[in-house]
Amino acid sequence: MSESQPALTQQELKQQAAVYAVDTFIHSDMRVGLGSGSTAELFIEEVGRRSQAGILTGLVTVSSSEKSAELARSFGLEVKELADIEALDITVDGADEIETATFSLTKGRGGALLREKLVAAASTLEVIIADESKLVSILGEKMPIPVEVTPFGWTHTANRLRALGGEPALRMTGGQPYLTDGENYVLDCRFPPVTDAKDLAARIKGLTGVVEHGLFIGIAGRVVIAGKTGVYELEKGA
Ligand code: A5P
Repeated sequence: MSESQPALTQQELKQQAAVYAVDTFIHSDMRVGLGSGSTAELFIEEVGRRSQAGILTGLVTVSSSEKSAELARSFGLEVKELADIEALDITVDGADEIETATFSLTKGRGGALLREKLVAAASTLEVIIADESKLVSILGEKMPIPVEVTPFGWTHTANRLRALGGEPALRMTGGQPYLTDGENYVLDCRFPPVTDAKDLAARIKGLTGVVEHGLFIGIAGRVVIAGKTGVYELEKGA
């Protein structure tokens, strides 16, 4: 980019990553998992526009949130229940933190972590799209780890997370506990920088009252980043 051109906004960067993902990974007749959050929504809009224009045909989608499903339907895309589909070819989603060397992720800032993980687990390939602000050298550097818990006895579950070294905070909205699409609570847990994400993920998952956590380990296959120098794919282990 020449010096006279203004720097792209974060929104424009997200848009670039979304367009790259559609150009590179999405073909007609695919079964596509739809992520959640502002970057994933730009991807859904791009897929929707190309579907409306007849450039992409025969797509079947499964959404990771009610909001993304509604957006997809507004473009006339077919949205199926995950339970009604055997497998997905690909899911494209955003992330809150991306550990550059390992592709380990933190997700769930938008509260869709459980369905995002279910949709990812059913997909042959998970592609993450983001702007450069999401890159970290170690998970927990910038963001807490969201943990979805059952409302019943949630303070006890919070104590169990404290015993693991976390500092849980109940996510609130409009003075009320935030409810996920599955009507669970979210505890945003600050942990010291996560040196062994796999181990921490297993420990959190093992706690009574925990439904799912936002550590996505070994799930992302490709990571598309939009930054100052343009759009590029991260190289795992680099
Ligand atoms: C939704 O629950 C999240 O996992 C999102 O994928 C994540 O928060 C990224 O969202 P943005 O694209 O809005 O930053």
